[in-house]
Amino acid sequence: MNDKLALPVGTTLDRFIMRKQEEFPYASGELSQLLRDIALAAKIVNREINRAGLIGVTGAFGNQNVQGEEQQKLDVIANIRFIRALRNGGEVCAILSEEEDDIILTGNNKGKYIVAIDPLDGSSNIDVNVSIGTIFSIYRRISDADLGSTPADCLQKGTCQVAAGYIVYGSSTMLVYTTGHGVNGFTYDSTLGEFFLSNPNIITPKTGAFYSCNEGGLNSFPDGIKNYLEYCKNEGYSARYIGSLVADFHRNLLKGGIYLYPQTAKTPSGKLRLMYECNALAFIIEQAGGRATDGTKRIMEIVPSELHQRCPLIIGSVEMVNKVEEMLVKEE
Ligand code: AHG
Ligand code: MN
Ligand code: MN
Ligand code: MN
Repeated sequence: MNDKLALPVGTTLDRFIMRKQEEFPYASGELSQLLRDIALAAKIVNREINRAGLIGVTGAFGNQNVQGEEQQKLDVIANIRFIRALRNGGEVCAILSEEEDDIILTGNNKGKYIVAIDPLDGSSNIDVNVSIGTIFSIYRRISDADLGSTPADCLQKGTCQVAAGYIVYGSSTMLVYTTGHGVNGFTYDSTLGEFFLSNPNIITPKTGAFYSCNEGGLNSFPDGIKNYLEYCKNEGYSARYIGSLVADFHRNLLKGGIYLYPQTAKTPSGKLRLMYECNALAFIIEQAGGRATDGTKRIMEIVPSELHQRCPLIIGSVEMVNKVEEMLVKEE
């Protein structure tokens, strides 16, 4: 048989999670169960997305979320599906979601974990069949068991994450996650209803040829960012911007590149949310050998003060992020 067509042995996500748990003899299995709960919800959301146009769940829901964004029907559905799976799974005591004003207490008072989630990322792309995603961060609760959860549990720094990941619903559906021991990617086979390991031990290239930025806001970007975008053009980099953070991040993670969402006149603190967008991707990119900063500070070291706090995000290949930082310092 042609070697190029040799089929890999299929490792399912469940088996992979189980094996990883065995490598840590003191692991209790609760985090493993939680990851499986998230994967189950991802399969359900994937199904809803795939048939959205047929079952009338495209378009606006008719409500605004706490950030003043117009919620789409699928934002609401994905939010309900993930919350239900996490509540039923029993491992999570509290959830922080983009689509909910306040912390959701699941009633699982013995649950050891907190999840911060962007149930559906890139919702402006839902109705036009463009890749969208889900982003999640997992924290260990710090308050005493049985007390429910305190705000301090939900406002931990990114460095406290015990796991983080995303699902990209794209030309194929993939789940990528880290528990702090490298990054692994799984592709969904919908005919079997399973995620299979397809991208083991992902390492992002040190540099790349893609830059991803909504340059519509260019006029109000900091000068250092403007200069860096000019530099990208002089270097002949290619612009790639989908407008779904997960999809833009995923491409750059695999191919090498940089994603920038700086402060703008419309969004003076940046647009993306620290707790359920930036921290998870920062953890993943660092585990893959890249970097994430807000321009002056490592994303994972920002001390959160609000659930829905925003921050600028510069994330990707290490040499590219270093270069932006240099240019920002020069303009200070
Ligand atoms: P969400 O759909 O979860 O609200 O996130 C929207 C975010 C992110 O997905 C994307 O990268 C960014 O907004 C796009 O913003 P612009 O349309 O301003 O480029
Ligand atoms: Mn939104
Ligand atoms: Mn988002
Ligand atoms: Mn969202």
